[in-house]
Amino acid sequence: MKVLVVGGAGYIGSHMVRQLDARGHEVVVLDNLSTGFREAVTAGRLVVGEMSDRSLVKDILRSHQIDTVMHFAACALVGESVVDPAKYYQNNVQATIDLLESMRATNVRRMVFSSTCATYGVPTTVPISESTPQQPVNPYGFTKLVIEKALEDYAHAYDFGYAALRYFNAAGASADGRIGEDHDPESHLIPIVLQVALGQREHVTIFGDDWDTPDGTCVRDYIHVDDLGTAHLAAASRLEPGKALEVNLGTGRGFSVRQIIETCREVTGHPIPAVTGERRPGDPPELVADPTLARELLGWVPVHRNPRSIIETAWKWHQANPSGYQKINATSGEQS
Ligand code: UFG
Repeated sequence: MKVLVVGGAGYIGSHMVRQLDARGHEVVVLDNLSTGFREAVTAGRLVVGEMSDRSLVKDILRSHQIDTVMHFAACALVGESVVDPAKYYQNNVQATIDLLESMRATNVRRMVFSSTCATYGVPTTVPISESTPQQPVNPYGFTKLVIEKALEDYAHAYDFGYAALRYFNAAGASADGRIGEDHDPESHLIPIVLQVALGQREHVTIFGDDWDTPDGTCVRDYIHVDDLGTAHLAAASRLEPGKALEVNLGTGRGFSVRQIIETCREVTGHPIPAVTGERRPGDPPELVADPTLARELLGWVPVHRNPRSIIETAWKWHQANPSGYQKINATSGEQS
């Protein structure tokens, strides 16, 4: 394949780029470096620019004879989406429609889209299958659902072939520790807990221990970032004009916040103090995927089946890169 990875300097996109390169695919990355890092792009060609820039994107699609677009670029903080929804509708919806229009204009009609379990909102039954009603409870989830619907319509009207992959909780880092997770500010559980282990934070705050769950803390389905990558490859190989693949990506196993903290203690050998705080607004108590359809449609089964092996890779990255990537200023241009 000749793949344009939009958002390829970000956490999940950068792991995808490495995997595509390792499998011999040609890769071009488009990223505006607003949250991504130049250093995270370890293969392919990086173009620094906006996916909403139709003339730039059409030029890339044509000049590199791209056949498939993998789209990771999005704002993805639930809390921020509530206080600044305009940013989310602009970046996640408007700019993605620009991207789709550039694809349509250049006859590139294959897309793998990063969707999310946040499109389900607060599910009434767990595990969550793809037939669960999609009723998002925050603007982030709505923006992802809007694009899923747009893709359905583009598939029907313009023969796009697409996959909407609904990630559960992406975690972990590359096995060699070269690239990993770096958000500013960090809001995700595992990196925060590992920052405590590194002595960068005094403690982790558990957002509520009075939920209706086995130990009172929230339960999530943690999926390794490289397992997300293999699912994207499987999905890309099954894209067909006019056809939709809408699939959950998770392990099917849920782990509580306390279980994650305890596993981080075991992996790091650090005591990792934890204090209990208030519930975080908008947190569903339990999000666990039903992974059956991913297995049936994509032949995909995650390699990392438990948080320990995921946390081991994350710890390797955090130890080797305690300050994450060195952030550099975004400048326009192209580099090999
Ligand atoms: N948590 C804590 N303390 C922290 C950070 C997180 O207790 O300091 C808890 C959260 O309350 C949650 C769990 O740890 O129960 C995981 O939280 P994350 O922030 O790591 O991940 P989320 O489950 O909130 O977010 C994920 C994806 C989002 C997606 C969302 C859907 O990262 O993109 O699920 O609800 F939108």
